[in-house]
Amino acid sequence: MSQKSILTGDRPTGPLHLGHFVGSLKNRVALQHEYKTFVLIADGQALTDNFEDPKRVRDNIVEVVLDYLAVGIDPTISTIVLQTAVSEIQELAFFLANMTTVGRLSRNPTLKAEIQQRGFGDTIPAGFFFYPISQAADITAFRADLVPVGEDQKPMIELTNEIVDRFNRIYNSTALKRCEALIPPVGRLPGTDGKEKMSKSLGNAIFLGDSEKELKKKVQNMFTDPKHLRVEDPGTVEGNPVFTYLQIFDPDQTSLRDMEDHYRRGGLGDGVVKKRLEGVLIDILKPIREGRERFAADRGEILNIIRHGTNKGREVAAQVLADVKNAIGISII
Ligand code: TRP
Repeated sequence: MSQKSILTGDRPTGPLHLGHFVGSLKNRVALQHEYKTFVLIADGQALTDNFEDPKRVRDNIVEVVLDYLAVGIDPTISTIVLQTAVSEIQELAFFLANMTTVGRLSRNPTLKAEIQQRGFGDTIPAGFFFYPISQAADITAFRADLVPVGEDQKPMIELTNEIVDRFNRIYNSTALKRCEALIPPVGRLPGTDGKEKMSKSLGNAIFLGDSEKELKKKVQNMFTDPKHLRVEDPGTVEGNPVFTYLQIFDPDQTSLRDMEDHYRRGGLGDGVVKKRLEGVLIDILKPIREGRERFAADRGEILNIIRHGTNKGREVAAQVLADVKNAIGISII
């Protein structure tokens, strides 16, 4: 049996943060040794809600690749692909669009939430509305078996499989491959403000490239238990993001349990807990930041990595597109 494939992607709208790190980057780094891995920089998808600011997207392509390399995505075994440079993906999306409905897209919970967040009201850009189809093309173009993503991307994977099934049934073909979402066991990382999700646009993110100074400031300003006013007061650990982060990142979970008990009883100040988190995060982020700086010194090399990966990815996507056209039987010339 041939080696299974993985496809993941990110919108290059800003540098990546700790939420990406726990949500999917760590997973990808581990999996790249076992699976044929494609990592897609979804610049076209990023453009669907940034079309008035293409510079933002363009400038962040290299930033995101720096994050990839710094966390350990190895370009000699993983293929880094730039979405808009593979026109086969866009062409594939055109055919896949026939396999779903406007109603189905309107009910996609992730798309719905994003439309709400962006305040589109009843002026939703058609390109944005279309992006789940384009994402189905991203995934099927690389014949991905597995798609490591955060929980919020599950509806996109479901839609992809619906499209695949429908296509293969209607055209009695095996041109498209079904895929499976690979959701990390740790829940979604909350923001430093305690909100459900860490995100650049909410201003509650710790970036992989943050300086030590920025990191310390962000940790010191983190939301804790608002009822824990004085050191002697008993505190709440649940929903307190400082503890949530420690539960995810601290290598010494045994002594963390003692600290949690102490916090619950009272007599432990937030400053002490934050200090511990600061140390833990510095240990994780320092090598990443240094790696990032090292790679950033040679921009030409980064562009070569993207070029090389894109060319390689394109060969796979072109084959899938040819299979799809054959299955439909549309090409007569
Ligand atoms: N929509 C994904 C996100 O917002 C990014 C993405 C684009 C993606 N294409 C993909 C994820 C393909 C997985 C597979 O994070």
